Amino acid sequence: MSDTNVLSCNRLTKFFVDGERKINVFQDLNFSVNAGETIAIMGASGSGKSTLLHLLGGLDTANEGEINIQGQKLNSLSAKQRGQLRNQHLGFVYQFHHLLPEFSALENVMMPLLIGNLNKTKAKDRATAILSQVGLADRLTHRPAQLSGGERQRAAIARAMVTQPACILADEPTGNLDEKTAAKVMELFIALKKQYNTALVLVTHDQKVADLMQEQYLLTQGSLVKSNSI
Ligand SMILES: Nc1ncnc2c1ncn2[C@@H]1O[C@H](COP(=O)(O)OP(=O)(O)OP(=O)(O)O)[C@@H](O)[C@H]1O
Ligand SMILES: [Mg+2]
Repeated sequence: MSDTNVLSCNRLTKFFVDGERKINVFQDLNFSVNAGETIAIMGASGSGKSTLLHLLGGLDTANEGEINIQGQKLNSLSAKQRGQLRNQHLGFVYQFHHLLPEFSALENVMMPLLIGNLNKTKAKDRATAILSQVGLADRLTHRPAQLSGGERQRAAIARAMVTQPACILADEPTGNLDEKTAAKVMELFIALKKQYNTALVLVTHDQKVADLMQEQYLLTQGSLVKSNSI
C-alpha cells in the first residue's frame, strides 16, 4: 500500500441473499484511491456501483475482503470507531441531497463538525465560509425545501467538504440536475479538490462528467475494469 493511499479495498466480495435467491454483486474486487486522485465509476444500472460506495464508506459490510481508510482496517473497528473514521476522513454526496429538511443550510453544514465535537462558534464560522465558497452566502437560513435543486446539491457538497475529508464518495451527484447546473456542480468539485487535495470517487452515468475525472473504471459483471485514464 502506498503511503499516499487514502482508501483501498482488497478482494472485496458482496452478495445479497433474498429469500432463496443469492444475488452476487461483485467478487474479489481490488481498488485504491490515492490522495487527491479523482476517479469515475461507471456501469449499467444494477451493476453494484452504489453498493460499492456504501461498502467503501462503511455504510454496509462486505461478505469477504478488506477495506482500509487512511491506513485503518474498517472491519477491525467497532461501529462507533467506524462512525468516527467516516466523520473524520470521508464525505458523502448522493443523487438526492439527503439534507435534513427541518434544518437550515447552515445548520446542515455545521452538523458533521458538531458531531466531530467542534465547538458551535467554530462550526458556524467554518460552515459559513464553505457555504460562501459554494455560492450560498445568501442562503444560509434557507431550509432545503427553500433551495433550488442545484443549490441543494451545492449545500450537500459543502456539508461533505466542511470537515476537509481525505476522500469524497459521490453517488450520481449530478444525476438530478440539468446540464448547465451539473457542469457548475462539477466545476465546484474540481475547484475544491484543487484547493484541499480531496480525493473524489464519483459514480456517474454521464460520460461528460466521467471525462472530468483522472481515472475511469467500469463496473461490469462483478468486476471493476479500468476503462480510461487521461
Ligand atoms: N439491500 C439489498 N437487498 C438485495 N439486493 C440488493 C440490495 N441492494 C442492492 N441490491 C441488488 O444489488 C445489485 C446492485 O445494486 P446497486 O444499487 O449497487 O446498483 P447500481 O449500480 O448503483 O445501479 P443504479 O445505476 O441503478 O443506481 C442490484 O441488482 C440490486 O437489485
Ligand atoms: Mg446506484
